[in-house]
Amino acid sequence: MGDEYASMKRRAARWAVEQVDDGMVVGLGTGSTTAFAIDELGKRVDAGLAIEGIPTSHASRDRAIEAGITMTSLDEVTTVDVAIDGADQVCDTVLLKGGGGAHTRERVIDTSADRFIVVVDERKVSTKLDGHVALEVLPEAIPSVLSGIDTLGGKSTIRTSTTTDGPAYTERGNLLVDADFGVIERPETLANELWATPGVLDHGLFIGVADVIAIGKADGVELLE
Ligand code: A5P
Repeated sequence: MGDEYASMKRRAARWAVEQVDDGMVVGLGTGSTTAFAIDELGKRVDAGLAIEGIPTSHASRDRAIEAGITMTSLDEVTTVDVAIDGADQVCDTVLLKGGGGAHTRERVIDTSADRFIVVVDERKVSTKLDGHVALEVLPEAIPSVLSGIDTLGGKSTIRTSTTTDGPAYTERGNLLVDADFGVIERPETLANELWATPGVLDHGLFIGVADVIAIGKADGVELLE
């Protein structure tokens, strides 16, 4: 990652962390931008901030524990005050997520929060929604899901692991399919079609769930609310 983009991510992450107050329960997203936020939260915890974090993945949990943040879970709290999470592409208020394969758990925690803050660098913002849609798929449903995506006009790729031979598995033992639909003109329609595809446990289209999108830029942070 170029330093330039790392700085943009860090700026967005810092802004998001400034929104966290004492006593809050904080949803902790997954990915390199949220990792900066977790580290910044850890610094505030060192300085006396009392918060509890709810992780969206093993990776964010490990990072948060290393940063000194107390962990909790959805079944132990009544409220998630704020969630901070990244995105792979942002177009208006639609997010594409799932580049790290954590989108199913991210959706549960991000949408549970009273305030969902998205943190991205400026490269993620696009005037058209044309990224791959990540799907978490029940392994035995792969043939029918691939056929269903084909019928919807998408081109599917089963995601391969970067660390072992073969496919990438999610934390819940499911497979990841990246579906290329070209430019997605009607994201709500596509989201509904994906929800209606048996075996698709979740997809990366997050529509109307972000309360604020903090875009890290070279000279500051732009907010889309
Ligand atoms: C994880 O599955 C994704 O939804 C991430 O939130 C997304 O990929 C953003 O990651 P970066 O901040 O590393 O770009």
